[in-house]
Amino acid sequence: MARMLIEGKTPLRGKIKVSGAKNEALKLIPFSIILDSPVKISNVPRITDVQTELKILESIGAKYKFEDGVLRIDSTSIKTAEIKTKLAKKLRASIVLAGPLLARFGKVFCPYPGGCLIGARPLDTHVDAFKQLGAMVRENKDHLFISLAKPGSFKVVLKERSVSATENIALYCAATEGVFEISNCAEEPEIVELMKVLKRAGAKIEGIGTPNLKITGNKLLHLDEVSVMSDRIEAATFIIALIATGGEGSVSPVRRDGLELFFKTLEDCGANVTIEGNSAIVKASPDLKPFKIKTGPQPEFPTDLQSPMSLVAGCANGVSTINETMFENRLMYLDELKKMGLKAEIISSHEAKIQGPSSFKATEIRSLDLRSGITMLIAAIMADGKTIIENSELIDRGYERVDEKFRHLGAKIKRL
Ligand code: EPU
Repeated sequence: MARMLIEGKTPLRGKIKVSGAKNEALKLIPFSIILDSPVKISNVPRITDVQTELKILESIGAKYKFEDGVLRIDSTSIKTAEIKTKLAKKLRASIVLAGPLLARFGKVFCPYPGGCLIGARPLDTHVDAFKQLGAMVRENKDHLFISLAKPGSFKVVLKERSVSATENIALYCAATEGVFEISNCAEEPEIVELMKVLKRAGAKIEGIGTPNLKITGNKLLHLDEVSVMSDRIEAATFIIALIATGGEGSVSPVRRDGLELFFKTLEDCGANVTIEGNSAIVKASPDLKPFKIKTGPQPEFPTDLQSPMSLVAGCANGVSTINETMFENRLMYLDELKKMGLKAEIISSHEAKIQGPSSFKATEIRSLDLRSGITMLIAAIMADGKTIIENSELIDRGYERVDEKFRHLGAKIKRL
């Protein structure tokens, strides 16, 4: 268990460079499994989820070199589709190895994935979609075994607009002979990027950026190089940190796609944020108005920004409402922030109200998951005094060199 010590009451100032997107990098690594030769992936964030996923691939025979954000990975040497390592339980994205391994070996054996404890996170949409593709699926309490019963062309309806189910099924279909029509797909920007990459590698894909994908698969996919897009959630998190600490600065590169409602909410509540080129410029925003957010799949408000937004609510004059529709444990961090002085009321597992303005005081708190961890880190920078965050290793799952980046903006952070 790692801990961080933060000496707060520091308005952040300066320029911040956003790293490559965690939730795209974690899908490009499985993508290497369906290629006919090694691939160079650049702008890969050095975060623990990426390192864990690489170790899983290594355990089944892949070879890689990861230096200065450039990952050279050769998955052609993978010999087995049996993932035995317990590492798979450490991250949700390990389920996205199933589609590529099934396409290549006709069967796959994988432990149930783990990941942040933000809710039940079932796999029924994945399992049901594989069945619609003619696969046989056997499950026990720890593992999933999928094998292909019949080849051909199939129509698939996803039960939920699931990000990882869309990616899993698309990766399988792109590398399998046949024509696959998949409806009710998720449309997050990381998925759009993955579809473009699959297309560049030789799959035919229609409907990119819509809920209806038509994929004509190709067994011989090839791509030499690909670069990970910048992380929209990290970008938005730094914008929030500048606003909530009363600071000023710029964040780049920033893309608007996937952040449309985030920017609209900031504008409506009076935050002083402008976009110039690919930078977001944040200036002091003293008079913030309360707001309402309701999370949901793209194009709704991103659930991964729900907890950091509670800090903007804590600065606003009045009562803000947060409605978390996607994950039932994703409001629990508010109990930790209440210890720091945030005036929050958890009405149900999906709804909370925050009364601003609140002033934060230092104390000992515990990070519950990646996004609540970064929220507590920013709260600690806002707070008067010295805060200790326990379980701070959870923040390193998704934010690259987070302490260095915040120190560069003037924060006083030590790893204990
Ligand atoms: N769902 C089901 N059945 C399934 C799959 C999903 O009911 O088989 C439900 C979930 O319970 C949830 C909704 O569908 O209510 C959406 O879940 P989704 O499958 O889209 O989430 P995910 O693919 O497991 C990814 C990101 C999450 C992000 C969500 C939503 C990765 C590795 N993770 O998770 O990111 O919150 O999409 O955008 O891509 C994070 O980065 O901190 C994080 C948790």
